[in-house]
Amino acid sequence: MTIVSNSQVRTFAKADRVAEGWTWAFASKELKVGQVRGLRLLGRELVLWRGEDGVVRAADAHCPHMGAHLKEGRVDGNGIRCFFHDWRYDADGRLDDVPCLKRAPYVQLQTWPVAESLGLIWVWPGEEPTRKPPYVPELEDDDCAVHVLPMFTERCHPNVMLINAIDEHHFNSVHSLPVDLYMDTTVVDETTIRFANRNAPRETHPLARALQPLYSGPLTYEMCYHSGNTGAVTVGPDAIHFHILFALRLCDDGSTEGRRVLVTRKRTGVRGKAATAALLAATNIVGDYFADGDSKVFETIRFDFAVPTKADHAIIDFVRHIEKQPAVTLGEWTRVVA
Ligand code: FES
Ligand SMILES: [Fe+2]
Repeated sequence: MTIVSNSQVRTFAKADRVAEGWTWAFASKELKVGQVRGLRLLGRELVLWRGEDGVVRAADAHCPHMGAHLKEGRVDGNGIRCFFHDWRYDADGRLDDVPCLKRAPYVQLQTWPVAESLGLIWVWPGEEPTRKPPYVPELEDDDCAVHVLPMFTERCHPNVMLINAIDEHHFNSVHSLPVDLYMDTTVVDETTIRFANRNAPRETHPLARALQPLYSGPLTYEMCYHSGNTGAVTVGPDAIHFHILFALRLCDDGSTEGRRVLVTRKRTGVRGKAATAALLAATNIVGDYFADGDSKVFETIRFDFAVPTKADHAIIDFVRHIEKQPAVTLGEWTRVVA
């Protein structure tokens, strides 16, 4: 098996580079109609606002006139007005009103594509998105109910945090799981890769024996990665699947800021709503299980995949997949094609 050599890796876990892809900015609820907020995202100062039409826009933060931060300004219609001299940029970032001039000169604010899905606002770090926003494969065509948890930080790269979910052996060593996971790889497309466990719970373990009636075949455990910064976990007995999205972004200091999003299919009616709420609560417990236990490693790890082995096959597939994707440089957001 050819294994990725460190010298060939130009994107995976690198401090100044990420695979190009939708990157979470805020929870949707954190930006209400008429609200404006500033954010440093992938090394770039941004301003985001939600216009009167409910649509979120993102642009470079500093006003082209004299450089005031536009987060000090206010939403005006679907555009934004700078606090300093009241210049107004329309929904597309085009300057359309300068109060002290009869006619606004031609000025274009650098805007960036924005999407909203699964309770989060996503920004595309480039001119034109080439993918749809992250999704949960089993719920791709469904109307979803979500619960977005508060932001967390980890002192490692988002790629490193994400591989935890497909690191088969640490489930035994760290989490004492009574199953020997084997994650089969499916490359869905250029930026999406799925890993699904093919093994059943161990016959010899009491907990595994208790779990067995819940599974007709392998223990359901799947991970779907989007652009190396977001992963959707699906886990649970045959009758009921829990879905948790981990949306991560790389910070200037090489650490990760992330949101955990609990996701379930939206059910209607009084009973349906109660079931939805109960499922989200149960998903939260499952999510805690996944989030616990590894923090100690993330605090101190200096990721260096110096001795990859056959047993790390899923991680190697993931690294290779990321290496084939277009990447962007932090701060500049210039596209580097693989
Ligand atoms: S700095 Fe924004 S209008 Fe002058
Ligand atoms: Fe873990």
